[in-house]
Amino acid sequence: MNEQIKREESVHGKHWSKLHGGYFSEPMVAYPLIRKVQMIAGKSEADTIIDLGGGTGSLLSLLLAEGIDRNISLVNLDASDTQLEAATRSETSCVRGSVDSFSRHDVGAEDGNFLFMMRSVLHYFGEDGLRPMLRHLRTQTQPGEYFVHQTASFRHQHDADCMNELYQIMRTPKWYPTVDFLCECLKDEGWQVLEVLPGLPLPLTKEELRRRYDLSPAELLRISDQFLSHPLVSEDLFKKTDDDFCAFLHYWIYICTPVITDKPNKKKPEMTVK
Ligand SMILES: C[S@@+](CC[C@H](N)C(=O)[O-])C[C@H]1O[C@@H](n2cnc3c(N)ncnc32)[C@H](O)[C@@H]1O
Repeated sequence: MNEQIKREESVHGKHWSKLHGGYFSEPMVAYPLIRKVQMIAGKSEADTIIDLGGGTGSLLSLLLAEGIDRNISLVNLDASDTQLEAATRSETSCVRGSVDSFSRHDVGAEDGNFLFMMRSVLHYFGEDGLRPMLRHLRTQTQPGEYFVHQTASFRHQHDADCMNELYQIMRTPKWYPTVDFLCECLKDEGWQVLEVLPGLPLPLTKEELRRRYDLSPAELLRISDQFLSHPLVSEDLFKKTDDDFCAFLHYWIYICTPVITDKPNKKKPEMTVK
């Protein structure tokens, strides 16, 4: 198991649904992504939906509850045993594996028609691992398939910089791109970005950060000082009250498909680039 996942074990499994105000189990938060996945699954005639870094399987459960063709296989691929143990729905299958090294063969019939979805996982790969991960996924994707992901990312460079400083103080390699930079990386790694739309922000309270990353009072103070020392920090990114603070991770949903190069017989996507 990778070090980051090991460090977060205390918030995984049965604790996960309550973390960050219940963000990861709240249907309202997930609906924009779920609606897109439902729509694209129908349009692309996917036979398998793979949730990359699917955690406790809450997105796949919601997809089932909201309605998806019952002939579509649902697969949760995650690297954490604790998360997968909590993902117990019989209608979905769990695969233990890493997003940056799995093979198509691990998650379904190689000649199947896959739809890859992902929420809040890309930042685990850090600045250096982002492009290799996107490249790896591209090698596991066929023309006409889709990669729909909700990724923490920021419209403005200074917001991304502030958040990355926060994560450095917390001694984690997690890293957040700007929306423009992520689109550039996706394109460089062979993806066409068809649409980008906003998701709901995730509140990171002082107490939850302390617990999740085992932070000392001095580290918490540094985080607060760091944000307050930035002239451009808005209340969308960081709010301070007397003895407390809350930072906000911003999310965007990216609809991507592999760039088609030399396979004219494969079905081309019909969506409009925004
Ligand atoms: C923030 S959680 C999101 C969980 C789920 N996608 C959701 O939205 O509820 C990130 C998940 O990614 C998983 N993860 C992190 N790095 C991974 C990797 N390299 N391969 C597979 N899963 C990974 C973690 O175990 C965790 O379950």
